[in-house]
Amino acid sequence: MTYKVIAYTYRATWVNKSNYKYVMKYYKYIDLDYKIFAEKMKSYIFSNGEMFKTFWTQLDSDLILSNIPETSSMFKPYNINVMNISITRSFNTNSLLGLHRDYSEAELRINIPILNCEKSVTNFYYSTVDPTLEILANGIPYLDYNYKNCTLVDSFCLDRPAILRVKEIHQVVANANYLPRISCTIDFKENIFHLFE
Ligand SMILES: [Fe+2]
Repeated sequence: MTYKVIAYTYRATWVNKSNYKYVMKYYKYIDLDYKIFAEKMKSYIFSNGEMFKTFWTQLDSDLILSNIPETSSMFKPYNINVMNISITRSFNTNSLLGLHRDYSEAELRINIPILNCEKSVTNFYYSTVDPTLEILANGIPYLDYNYKNCTLVDSFCLDRPAILRVKEIHQVVANANYLPRISCTIDFKENIFHLFE
């Protein structure tokens, strides 16, 4: 995947130049016993395919918590409780598209790979230009950015669970040979900043 190599090279350039202006921690991998949850969630998604036509689908948290007990039990070691659970399904393979900030109450969310995430890259950007508010077909709002106004500042691969700063500009670029790319994104009743440090 050429775009992944380019992304990491760019990140190294920032570090070498000590350009502290843009240095920020955008993500952090987190230890999580998530494999059983991911398998059960994949089955749930495949058996309810119609629900997952769009990029972002908010699930009924109570329903998921009662049907997939691992949803809460995997976070027990961290003493945090799930509030909202959503599924993101990405077909974007163009590294110039899909730059956005989540229109989210939560600053940090934990993302869990479900399908083909290990073949994708998540990029973070910086911009001084204001975004446009866009609404998905299912009513979910997000803040859209034009690639031309943004500077790539960090990248990572969601090949394991990670905490993400979702209010910073980010983008998922999937691999055309591995579609769709599906992940689960969760926010919590508690502030989870202490897990991000
Ligand atoms: Fe996002």
